[in-house]
Amino acid sequence: MAYGGKTKTMNLEIKDLTVRLYPKKNAGRHINVVDSVDLYVNGGEIAAVVGESGSGKSFLGLSIMRLNPPDVSEVVSGSVKIKCPGEKEELDIMRLNPKNLPSVRGRLVSIVFQDPNTSLNPVIKIGEQITEAIFAHKKIGKPEAKEIAISYLNRMNIDGKARFNAYPHELSGGMRQRVMIAMAMVLNPCFLIADEPTTALDVTTSLQVLSLIEKIKLESNLGIIFITHDLSIAKNISDKIYVFYAGQVMECGKTEEIMDNPLHPYTVSLINSVPSLPADYMPKQKLFTIPGYLTKDDFTEGKCRFYSRCFKRDNNCLKNIPLNEISRGMFARCIKV
Ligand SMILES: Nc1ncnc2c1ncn2[C@@H]1O[C@H](COP(=O)(O)OP(=O)(O)O)[C@@H](O)[C@H]1O
Ligand code: SF4
Ligand SMILES: [Mg+2]
Repeated sequence: MAYGGKTKTMNLEIKDLTVRLYPKKNAGRHINVVDSVDLYVNGGEIAAVVGESGSGKSFLGLSIMRLNPPDVSEVVSGSVKIKCPGEKEELDIMRLNPKNLPSVRGRLVSIVFQDPNTSLNPVIKIGEQITEAIFAHKKIGKPEAKEIAISYLNRMNIDGKARFNAYPHELSGGMRQRVMIAMAMVLNPCFLIADEPTTALDVTTSLQVLSLIEKIKLESNLGIIFITHDLSIAKNISDKIYVFYAGQVMECGKTEEIMDNPLHPYTVSLINSVPSLPADYMPKQKLFTIPGYLTKDDFTEGKCRFYSRCFKRDNNCLKNIPLNEISRGMFARCIKV
């Protein structure tokens, strides 16, 4: 269920995506770690996926790229359609022949992970790592690839010429993450999935990286799916928010509307748990404390996934709850809103 205005020329649309995770060595039951997810993002727009650790956000990001581990997981249903300017037709990534996936990854949609230390190869110079990414898609000479790599490093506020031959350990954490973004952008994709790109960074460096992400969004009309556990970051950077819990979208809508008037009990609790939000962004409802933790049991079918921690729960919540449009453009998965 998408909401708002979708542009005709450039969008990424996820419909009814369900991805199943099988337990290793048949220990326990399978879970739908991504369950009936609908999400879309236009070019030049940032959609934040916000939720606590273990809710399946990274799995969603990987699934969009079909990078989820095939030995333990399976796409059960759904589509991820991507439309980019200059492409003849819309592609459904879920239905692409595996041999065609490399031509989509990086070129149409790219991903940046949380930890640049594990994503970069420590023994290869950063310039070489970026040019490798270019050579994987383009038949061009070394000097031309080097020029492109340098220009993308420069765009990330890194002196490309001076740092081209640097090894990852010679750069700060913030610089390494900016190298990762340069690498993700070097083929000029129309969509970027940023999976907690600032979580491993200190506050000041994190702010620099966030402002760079906004800059490249504007310069390249990039559509971004920004994954974060931090609602205050989502509030500052996104145009719309998808509140994610135990594999499902619990609530979605325009960022301002979600922050001003959260509907779902989980969203209310998330907002209440962010002390740094200015007073005018606090919800009007009474403050709530939600006990407990997200566990694998919360992914169980046949009940609201937030049931075990919800102060409003009753027996009517012991069934699968659909995501309903509550008001124009605001969706919530709760029978009490
Ligand atoms: N490769 C995997 N094998 C087994 N379980 C996994 C794997 N990847 C993720 N999970 C499980 O799926 C759930 C969601 O994980 P993840 O997507 O990493 O959450 P988030 O990014 O929101 O913190 C967690 O319970 C996690 O343990
Ligand atoms: S459906 Fe029930 S358990 Fe789920 S969030 Fe709403 S009130 Fe709480
Ligand atoms: Mg994650």
